[in-house]
Amino acid sequence: MRNQFFSKGKKLSVGDPMTDALWDSCLSQKFQILSAYQWTPISVIERTWKYLSLDRVTSLVDLGSGVGKFCIHLSLLSNHSIDILGLEDREELVDVSESLKKHWDVSKVQFRKENFLKQFPEGHSHYYCFNPLYETMKGSHSIDLQKQKSANQFLKDLQTLKQNLLLLKPKTKLITFHGFGGNSLTGFRIVLKEEIAGGEYLIWERE
Ligand SMILES: C[S@@+](CC[C@H](N)C(=O)[O-])C[C@H]1O[C@@H](n2cnc3c(N)ncnc32)[C@H](O)[C@@H]1O
Repeated sequence: MRNQFFSKGKKLSVGDPMTDALWDSCLSQKFQILSAYQWTPISVIERTWKYLSLDRVTSLVDLGSGVGKFCIHLSLLSNHSIDILGLEDREELVDVSESLKKHWDVSKVQFRKENFLKQFPEGHSHYYCFNPLYETMKGSHSIDLQKQKSANQFLKDLQTLKQNLLLLKPKTKLITFHGFGGNSLTGFRIVLKEEIAGGEYLIWERE
């Protein structure tokens, strides 16, 4: 059952350009429909690798890794040169990520079913997030109905995330696409700001 959706997906030959449509063709229909709203576009992952390849990166964590698109494609672009960890609190998405990890053969990527607000992963050189907290505020394009919509919960979660980020070591980088939930981040300075694929792309450095 698990590999059914791979019958639609194709493996690439060396040199073929990757596109969102091609990557997403490995997903079931329900997750393909969500892609434009929930999974990082290929152009953003390519921009991230362009930045990381010139930065000192030892390991990267995706806070809320979804179907694993960012982690898996970044690992391929890096030619498996960095350790990448994806944390996701929805079991179904972790299962999809594990299947795609096998499909793309990316051994340096690990996925864990974890709530990063409860168990924050310390000690990595780089962190990435694509607005994972916003779903408690959002009315449409939700992944499922598991999470309660609540402005109060959103504010509490944002506070927890900010407190955890403040504990990171100086020089640690946080990369955000469509933000992390807030406007300001105490203890961080912005080192890069761009508009990519219709979204704000920022890199923050812990001071
Ligand atoms: C907008 S999606 C981004 C997915 C992935 N990072 C990507 O770029 O393709 C945000 C993801 O964060 C997950 N998420 C939200 N809050 C979380 C939490 N506290 N712990 C773990 N995962 C969380 C959601 O389930 C969702 O899959």
